[in-house]
Amino acid sequence: MAKSGDRVVTMKKLDISFAMRVACDHLSYRSLIEEIEGDLERVRRAETTSTEGLLRLLESFYSQVRAHFALEEKGGLFEVYREHDSGLRQQATVMLAQHRDFLERMRRILEVASHIDRPDGPEFEQCARELGELFRALREHELVEDTLLDRLVEQDIRHGS
Ligand SMILES: [Fe+2]
Ligand SMILES: [Fe+2]
Repeated sequence: MAKSGDRVVTMKKLDISFAMRVACDHLSYRSLIEEIEGDLERVRRAETTSTEGLLRLLESFYSQVRAHFALEEKGGLFEVYREHDSGLRQQATVMLAQHRDFLERMRRILEVASHIDRPDGPEFEQCARELGELFRALREHELVEDTLLDRLVEQDIRHGS
């Protein structure tokens, strides 16, 4: 169940325009991930000594990801998953738990990043390592999600149910 203005919306069947919004979000923050990876590389190669830009990118990434997860959760995506077979329901539970885990990890990374005082210090290395792990897990999550969405959209188009 999700609130859209004063209207309460229940989406048990996948709405195609909603699926497209989710897919667009994936593309948009995937490019932000690439930008952050590029920035990490520049700091590592000592092309820049400032990590201020990196911190700004990380803050923007955190707010994009948070808004994206809220869109999926409040927009009813998980209710749609639960309408399907038990395999999909189990996968939905795992994916919802991943949202919580990713946001928690991101908060920790931001905390470490805000204490980086020099690019060759341990905070930067910790931040880069944890970000690398988070990006890998997040890419995998979105890949699974894109595949599920494709499957549900195709099902709707084929069977109209
Ligand atoms: Fe998700
Ligand atoms: Fe997503």
